[in-house]
Amino acid sequence: MAEQTLMDKLVSLCKRRGFVFQSSEIYGGLGSVWDYGPLGVELKKNIKDRWWRSMVHDRDDIEGIDAAILMAAKVWEASGHVSGFTDPLVDCKTCKGRFRADKLDDARCLQKPSKKPGEHSTCQLTEPRLFNLMFKTFMGPVEESAATIYLRPETAQGIYVNYLNVLNSSRQKVPFGIAQIGKAFRNEITPGNFIFRTREFEQMEMQFFVKPGADLEWFERWREIRMAWHHSIGLTPTKLRWHEHGPGELAHYAKAAYDIEYEFPFGWNEIEGIHDRTDFDLNRHQEHSGKKLEYFDQAENARYVPYIVETSAGADRVTLTVLVDAYREEEVEGEVRVVLGFHPSVAPIKAGVFPLTKKDGQPEIATALHHDLKKRFNCFYDDSGAIGRRYRRMDEVGTPFCVTIDTETAAAQSVTIRHRDAMTQERVALDKVGEYIASRITG
Ligand code: GAP
Repeated sequence: MAEQTLMDKLVSLCKRRGFVFQSSEIYGGLGSVWDYGPLGVELKKNIKDRWWRSMVHDRDDIEGIDAAILMAAKVWEASGHVSGFTDPLVDCKTCKGRFRADKLDDARCLQKPSKKPGEHSTCQLTEPRLFNLMFKTFMGPVEESAATIYLRPETAQGIYVNYLNVLNSSRQKVPFGIAQIGKAFRNEITPGNFIFRTREFEQMEMQFFVKPGADLEWFERWREIRMAWHHSIGLTPTKLRWHEHGPGELAHYAKAAYDIEYEFPFGWNEIEGIHDRTDFDLNRHQEHSGKKLEYFDQAENARYVPYIVETSAGADRVTLTVLVDAYREEEVEGEVRVVLGFHPSVAPIKAGVFPLTKKDGQPEIATALHHDLKKRFNCFYDDSGAIGRRYRRMDEVGTPFCVTIDTETAAAQSVTIRHRDAMTQERVALDKVGEYIASRITG
């Protein structure tokens, strides 16, 4: 399959089957903003749930929070985003295109035939200018600079400003972490590749507070844990790799940083960053707010500003990764079958429930089973068309199991369960179907 074709096919499947739609589509769409449909919202929610379970519920040393998107403007001065969260931009006076100066090789001029900006004889590129990526808005009734606030460009700062609140209201001691899932906004100049780089997205971030000096050891531990998590949601290990940030790439807050990259059809790209942020953020908030953010370590009888190891993944980017990794086409009995081979724990629909025919009481048994299963997990009832077609429809949206009520069901009190990947079937007692599926969909 040609590489670009795979992305085209995926975008089209996502729209056709209700995973992802373009935002405001009936008005011509809004650049690099996407909406999740009925199946997409389930897929993304399952990914976020798996992250939350592994980072918060399965651990004793991490607490969760949900901070507001809107924060005091001073937060972003302290964090360095007002002065430093910028991209260098160049404008072309001829085609009126605007491009990232550091990504000209990946950009295309608006003039035809398609070339890199600067390659046409008529291109007139300006000198690079710095452009801040934060969205600004106003709070209250007046549009004056005193009322300017920002849509947060990362969720991390909501954790830092609440670090003492969490410490004082929980039984945690350093080392401990705070986790959060939430929306972030960036006015990206070269967004694209579907939901890979968007202007509104969700982050799954965890900030781990440690004693100064213990940061590099925790940094290594978190690298290992986070890579293992990506394997656990079913991503192909050989398509994941580490990228270490060199001195020129490090963000203003980081002493060390590694990205987890995935091999997308459009090349290797970051899906998560693990950063050693040192005491940069808490020191800055201490200076700007005038509030002491030190920790008193009773065991050591010492006061210090903790160092922070951050793990930061994009929920939308991981969703795209899961979709790309799962997509396959294979020939079955002379026909092409499209399969999303999701790990069962993230699959939006866990089971399809089908009566083989619309007679002999099969629909009644199937409906009762469907209602029963729906109490435990998301499943889908389908009685239309040939059974083979119904299987294919479920394969295409990644449903791991299809349960069929057939001519033997009433007498034998059993059904067939068909497996998406192997396409094999087995007979299972009707009253054991829920348990059978539930035990196979956990992560
Ligand atoms: N708090 C640190 C931080 O925000 P980052 O490397 O800028 O670090 C972390 O972002 C993750 O957030 C990325 O690895 C990516 O998964 C996701 N992300 C960042 N910008 C994004 C965008 N424009 N669209 C979608 N996801 C994005």
